Amino acid sequence: MVKFVASSLAALVLTVATIQAQSTTTAAAATTKTTTSAAAATTTTTTWPAANQVPPTNSAEVQAWLKEIDLTGAPDIELHKGDPPSCPNPPIANECYWTCDGCSDDDIVSCARPNTWGLTFDDGPSTDTPTLLTYLKGQNLAASFFLIGSNVVQYPEIVKQEVAEGHHLASHTWSHHALTTLTNEQIVAEMRWTEKAVMEYTGLKLKYMRPPYGDINARVRFVLKKLGYIPVDWTGDEFDTNDWQMPTMSESTVISTFTKSLDTYAASNKTTGFYCLEHDLNNLTVGVAQKIIPLGLARNITIAPIPVCESDASPYQNSNTATTTTAATNGTTATSTSANQSATSSSTSGNQANQGKTSGAESRVAGSALSAIAGAAVAGLLLA
Ligand SMILES: *[C@@H]1O[C@H](CO)[C@@H](O)[C@H](O)[C@H]1NC(C)=O
Ligand SMILES: *[C@@H]1O[C@H](CO)[C@@H](O)[C@H](O)[C@H]1NC(C)=O
Ligand SMILES: *[C@@H]1O[C@H](CO)[C@@H](O)[C@H](O)[C@H]1NC(C)=O
Ligand SMILES: *[C@@H]1O[C@H](CO)[C@@H](O)[C@H](O)[C@H]1NC(C)=O
Ligand SMILES: *[C@@H]1O[C@H](CO)[C@@H](O)[C@H](O)[C@H]1NC(C)=O
Ligand SMILES: [Zn+2]
Repeated sequence: MVKFVASSLAALVLTVATIQAQSTTTAAAATTKTTTSAAAATTTTTTWPAANQVPPTNSAEVQAWLKEIDLTGAPDIELHKGDPPSCPNPPIANECYWTCDGCSDDDIVSCARPNTWGLTFDDGPSTDTPTLLTYLKGQNLAASFFLIGSNVVQYPEIVKQEVAEGHHLASHTWSHHALTTLTNEQIVAEMRWTEKAVMEYTGLKLKYMRPPYGDINARVRFVLKKLGYIPVDWTGDEFDTNDWQMPTMSESTVISTFTKSLDTYAASNKTTGFYCLEHDLNNLTVGVAQKIIPLGLARNITIAPIPVCESDASPYQNSNTATTTTAATNGTTATSTSANQSATSSSTSGNQANQGKTSGAESRVAGSALSAIAGAAVAGLLLA
């Protein structure tokens, strides 16, 4: 096992080194762009929508985005109410509503790679994210970060750091509202504003997304697909760490519950991996991540971001000519990718079933708002 860990670390070190070399190029390109814009002195800086609110759909930007796609044929399913909504009673036929009937259609729910923990963190970036990044760097681990657009524009340097350190970026919407409660046009606004923010700071066009609260049905999927997104849910209740419930739920409960899930998994045939639900939301969630990751490594479970789980050499929508590095040692594979720089600069310059309870556990509070909310209030929401 020691040997295994050592060789997998070596593979990841190679990957990180490659990404660092690539990000130097990105930084250089970005500098050039900025200089050019400054010289022209006509470029207006982007005015972002209000934080943590569904962006208006009547803005020039959203109207232009709506013209780019054809939403005809979107399933006509009534909007749900509540944030997150409760399950419709009676159920809506053929809705394929993951959090209520467990129907995932072609959403990704498990890491495709055997014996692998698909490491993902939702709701960031936050002021506690750098602590997590330091830890992951020390362990030579890479993760996928499901970013909230409102937080991206608040902490763009942290997002850049995530890319520079070899992590993978994905979308968790602009304002963290339940998507089945939003109109098709509002979903477009949520996704494209987040995409634009990440594009502006990193040059990467996001491709994977996780619906807030796991709240996704056939209508939401239809719109996401038109926008080029692949939804990634998670591998069921037992892989929801419930980290966001701290401090109402004690850290020791979070750890002991998740340990049982790891033991069950380690005793299984492990032919597919799993995605777990974790958050880089605050001091507590970042703290517990550093305690549970070693429990996975101790059980010889490989830890990897989405591109490695899914063997996706193009984990961004604009990585068609991506540089991919693959290092494999005894079954451990690490893949890294960089965006097509040409595509980058041109875009930038344009300036109650099983999962029902799980979905309740997906953090209901976007980013910075959480710290203002007492644990008791959060627990109250869970019961709502
Ligand atoms: C660890 O996992 C790898 C594959 O992920 C496997 O090849 C190896 O045999 C495992 N080692 C132990 C000690 O279980
Ligand atoms: C491994 O386990 C899963 C579910 O536990 C089962 O569906 C699958 O058939 C098993 N695969 C093998 C190769 O035994
Ligand atoms: C959380 O905050 C406490 C008190 O400021 C600090 O001692 C601890 O190191 C922090 N933990 C993490 C994981 O940042
Ligand atoms: C790969 O695994 C085999 C058998 O477990 C071992 O003999 C070999 O040394 C390993 N290779 C590396 C590079 O760790
Ligand atoms: C990058 O992508 C753009 C747009 O998709 C394409 O026109 C260009 O040829 C690509 N660049 C390279 C180096 O392949
Ligand atoms: Zn979330």
